[in-house]
Amino acid sequence: MARIAYINGRYVPQSRAQVAVEDRGYLFSDGVYDAVPIHNGNLAFADRHLDRLDRSLAELRIAPPMSRAALLQVGHEVLRRNGVRNGGLYIQVTRGVAPRDHKFPKGIKPSLLMMARKWKAPAPALLAKGAAIVTVPDQRWARRDIKSISLIANVLAKQAAAEQGAFEAWMVDDAGMVTEGSSTSAWIATANGALVTRPNGHEILPGITRSVVVDVARDLGLILELRPFSRDEAYAAREAFLTSVSNFVLPITRIDGKPVGEGKPGPIVARLRAAYLKMARHD
Ligand code: PDD
Repeated sequence: MARIAYINGRYVPQSRAQVAVEDRGYLFSDGVYDAVPIHNGNLAFADRHLDRLDRSLAELRIAPPMSRAALLQVGHEVLRRNGVRNGGLYIQVTRGVAPRDHKFPKGIKPSLLMMARKWKAPAPALLAKGAAIVTVPDQRWARRDIKSISLIANVLAKQAAAEQGAFEAWMVDDAGMVTEGSSTSAWIATANGALVTRPNGHEILPGITRSVVVDVARDLGLILELRPFSRDEAYAAREAFLTSVSNFVLPITRIDGKPVGEGKPGPIVARLRAAYLKMARHD
């Protein structure tokens, strides 16, 4: 089935979808995006994702391209036209098209793109074995809480991981503290079983899967510590894992070549993954 994208008011075959060369997203990365998970044909946690999109837009003073109800309607139409039951809806808004000039142009309309695609479920072998990750310096800008389409530092981090045969790169700040993964949120469970993840702030993207897992952990009565953790603490963790819309909750069993805990996925991650998926599929 040919993939269909929505671009500025039209549904078009994705291979022929086009944007203007003077789109500020193309020239300046002047835009934001969000990715909403699709579970059993539904947009899961849509309000949390659209709240984050609104916030990213407001931080960059880009006007919302349409109402939330209209965005949801178009989003559902895109996933229907693409026959996606399990996957993700990608939404991107840029400031719009104008002759190249850094400052905000006046009187232009934002550009809106939506695409849907099926995601491969994480391979059972990866789930059974757990992922290997590496650490890299965090080279990003100071407002990582905005879901900007400017992702070059994230791209370089993920490429560094791939070149070392790892699934993800955890980025580490100048103080030796882990911020997050190149496209995922970072978590550890300490020797006494407390779950640790960095609090939201300008240093990380407020991951939606992370926010759901925080709720899930509280419901399960687990000890939760919202604080930064260091790379050394990660090396010494009992369990480690990552969260994101496409990976859900994924165990990490090696960091920089060193085994985490016993080097195999642990029970806390398994409980969180099951509880997260239960919520996502019924949301
Ligand atoms: N990545 N941190 C970063 C830097 C991210 O780019 C993402 C999401 C996350 C996890 O957030 P969420 O749980 O809302 O997916 C954390 C998206 C999926 C992407 O870039 O494709």
